[in-house]
Amino acid sequence: MAILKIARMGHPVLRATALPVSDPTAPEIQGLVEDMIETLADAGGVGLAAPQVHVPLRLVIFFVPTERGEDEVPLTVLINPVIEPLGDEEEEGAEGCLSLPGMVGVVPRFKFIRYSGLDLDGLPIERLAEGYHARVVQHECDHLDGILYPARIRDFSRFGFAEEFKKRQEE
Ligand code: NI
Repeated sequence: MAILKIARMGHPVLRATALPVSDPTAPEIQGLVEDMIETLADAGGVGLAAPQVHVPLRLVIFFVPTERGEDEVPLTVLINPVIEPLGDEEEEGAEGCLSLPGMVGVVPRFKFIRYSGLDLDGLPIERLAEGYHARVVQHECDHLDGILYPARIRDFSRFGFAEEFKKRQEE
């Protein structure tokens, strides 16, 4: 196991379209996922996409912690994911990203989605998601198409350093 280096915005790996994983059960994929789980825990995030650790493959990991006040979603490994929006209702919410450390922005996302993909055993996953769960999945899967959350922002007055927003909230 190892903690991997996380690519930051500006690195070309974050702009590229990632390639499908041909065999989720391959030892190198198992090893990659172990390292990604360790890296995510070390960085203190809720999700990580393989391109963020310089591996241009369609693989993401994420979870929804109980503190969100929503249903907990256990750590999920999602390979070759497909997202289908259910309706066009959107919801705005704050997002950060380990590839843009210290920054936060308000991003519109589909409120209801269905997503599918494979797990580490190559078995199908299919879930309905809404709210924060749906947001996390959309954010992580965007990484596989070279999209970082600032590209989704419509109101740039609500994009900046988390520390600055926090300071002003306290004033
Ligand atoms: Ni991200």
